[in-house]
Amino acid sequence: MKVLVTGNNGYIGNVMCPMLLSEGFDVVGLDSNYFEGCEFEQRQAKIGQIVKDIRQVAAEDFQGVDAVIHLAGLSNDPIGELNPGITEKINLDASVRCAQLAKQAGVKRFVFASSCSVYGVAKEGEMISEQGELNPVTAYAKSKIGTEFGISPLAEADFSPVFMRNATVYGVSPLLRLDLVVNNLAAWGHITGKIKIMSDGSPWRPLIHIQDFSRAFIAALKAPKELVHNQVFNVGQNSENYQIRYLAAAVKQVIPGCSVEYTGEHGSDSRTYKVDFSKINTVLKDHFKPKWNVLKGVEELAEAYKRNKLDMPAFEGDKFVRLRHLTLLKKSGKLDNDFFWTEKK
Ligand SMILES: NC(=O)c1ccc[n+]([C@@H]2O[C@H](COP(=O)([O-])OP(=O)(O)OC[C@H]3O[C@@H](n4cnc5c(N)ncnc54)[C@H](O)[C@@H]3O)[C@@H](O)[C@H]2O)c1
Repeated sequence: MKVLVTGNNGYIGNVMCPMLLSEGFDVVGLDSNYFEGCEFEQRQAKIGQIVKDIRQVAAEDFQGVDAVIHLAGLSNDPIGELNPGITEKINLDASVRCAQLAKQAGVKRFVFASSCSVYGVAKEGEMISEQGELNPVTAYAKSKIGTEFGISPLAEADFSPVFMRNATVYGVSPLLRLDLVVNNLAAWGHITGKIKIMSDGSPWRPLIHIQDFSRAFIAALKAPKELVHNQVFNVGQNSENYQIRYLAAAVKQVIPGCSVEYTGEHGSDSRTYKVDFSKINTVLKDHFKPKWNVLKGVEELAEAYKRNKLDMPAFEGDKFVRLRHLTLLKKSGKLDNDFFWTEKK
């Protein structure tokens, strides 16, 4: 089966593509390569590559493709808050257009990387299932749910979209991100021996290891059509909902001597939510077998940080934080006019 992975040159794509290859898929990537030169470790996958912005894709790009995994997009909230327009154009408008063109070109399955952030702030103690109330509080979350609503009506006998509402990812990748909570806290612990939590540590977050995320997408490709056709799946495990204070404790356990400080403040990020992952773990149980938990993930990260001598200049640099790198590209005139925002002082 030929699979086109958009956003293959990002954090997740660099782990998912080698896994797809080892499962026997024929893989081609499509990416604008915003994060070229941001390697943490050597990339593994050698695959055919279309270097293109998803805003410029054409039906020909999908010729001969059986399935699309759509990862490309502006991948976190701060970028969306600086300029909601660019997030809407790339994450929503271009994504819906990709699905339309893919369908036109005869692609059978379109697996979209949505996010659990569509649930926003949940009620105390509630585990949110796929039927739960939607409460997207950021431009990023709004773009994800908008894309689901834009693509779903395209579903037909020969075109099966699948909507993967992913937990927040952690884990090692050749294109590491340090703006993700577990990766970030482990890096603080590794570099400074101090972890600072900008809250009282009580907010809940659903988390997933990068390889389990990839396993879920592979499951969505392999499962019989009737199990996934136009379905929404929360992607994670019920046991992988954590309070932030547990994440700090996990880092402390793996990196002995770490100290943890809670600022107790309520920052701009009001999100707290626990997600119910029962559906994917029952409907796709023959295909999706997650293998990780946060503690194991922190051990893996700490080992990789040591191996690659991650230090403060790298941590504070612009390679591993998406917003910083895009800001650098913008300042050097390498982004188009859709990318505009005024920097905060
Ligand atoms: N990382 C997470 O915790 C997480 C959680 C839920 C959902 N997701 C979604 O998974 C996807 C991948 O996330 P990631 O962490 O690998 O992000 P990433 O930023 O590391 O990778 C995104 C990739 O998309 C490419 N891209 C961005 N805009 C593009 C455009 N206009 N045209 C072509 N390519 C473009 C970038 O060059 C990059 O290679 C994203 O859609 C993200 O929203 C991620």
